Amino acid sequence: MAYAAFRSIGAYVPSKILTNAELAVMVDTSDEWITKRTGIKERRISAKNETTSDMGVKAAKKAIERSGVDVGEIDMIICATISPDYFCMPSTATIISNKLGLANVTAFDISAACTGFVYILSIAKAFIESGMKKNILIIGAEKLSAITDYTDRGTCILFGDGAGAAIISATDNKEEAIIDIHTGADGTFADLLMTPNGGSGSMHDSLDREAAGCFMQMKGNETFKVAVRTLTKDVIEILQENKIDSSDVKHFIPHQANLRIIKAVGDALKFKDDQVVLTVAKFGNTSGASIPMAINDIYEEGKLKYGELMLLDAFGGGLTWGSALVPFSPLK
Ligand code: UT7
Repeated sequence: MAYAAFRSIGAYVPSKILTNAELAVMVDTSDEWITKRTGIKERRISAKNETTSDMGVKAAKKAIERSGVDVGEIDMIICATISPDYFCMPSTATIISNKLGLANVTAFDISAACTGFVYILSIAKAFIESGMKKNILIIGAEKLSAITDYTDRGTCILFGDGAGAAIISATDNKEEAIIDIHTGADGTFADLLMTPNGGSGSMHDSLDREAAGCFMQMKGNETFKVAVRTLTKDVIEILQENKIDSSDVKHFIPHQANLRIIKAVGDALKFKDDQVVLTVAKFGNTSGASIPMAINDIYEEGKLKYGELMLLDAFGGGLTWGSALVPFSPLK
């Protein structure tokens, strides 16, 4: 049987920084409020002509370069995004495949909001374990600034842009294998986080995105409570089912939504501070890109080594959630 190994990580962050002080000029908020309630100090914003696929390609190139896998050996590309280059088609994954010069791969996007990266990791694992694919490029990429309402202080303080990518490859070495992935969804909470208009559920003639209400809306406080509950429950279950103690986890890498959510979950699970990976202060919430950007952060700081166990934990619109027990398994 083939196992799925997490071979490499890469990320891209736009150079433009949007600070809390700058947001305080745009909406009725303050650096103090944002820092206290979210832990976010700044977020990155892509250039006007920089697309989600542009960022995804830059992250992908780094992941490919670090993987030891030749670009021509990639047989599938999956992109997790809620801010695709184009609303319906083509998928951002196919645009990325073209920009990478790959003409004959399976390529598609999935929409699972902030849980997107855990979802695509689970799809990659399944395709590799079934023997259908050997080297899969997975990408979480978001230009959330394109769907953020910069007059709504309840959302615009949270979100930023960026991309992260990983290569998942077949291996026969069980020690290197992704251990387990849980994913779930509950549509009864669909209205907590949504872009209410612009889809087939509410057709609009207007192409003005603002007038058409194509921006994200969120019931922040309700989402917050469900997030803490769900993220904690999910981790308890995946650890118990796999008989792994939280002290065996080297890096707990939660979706970077809000420092208070991460702290509440980390405390409930009794993780020590040095186990918990935090990038929320400098990147804000980048939805499907947040987990691979955080993995890349510890990788580039030299803190992520061969064989170390990562526990990924995500939660987002849908509502969706997921967790994954993943040893870091670069080719030696
Ligand atoms: O990524 C996927 C999932 N997303 C999340 O997990 C995000 C979850 N939610 C959150 O992070 C938090 O709920 C927020 C940061 C969005 C809001 O923080 P909160 O502590 O839940 O605040 P709240 O919504 O309960 O609002 C408290 C007060 C309200 O004023 P009143 O009614 O008490 O007078 C808000 O109007 O804070 C006000 N407020 C703000 N004040 C200054 C809300 N946003 C702001 C703001 N600046 N940006």
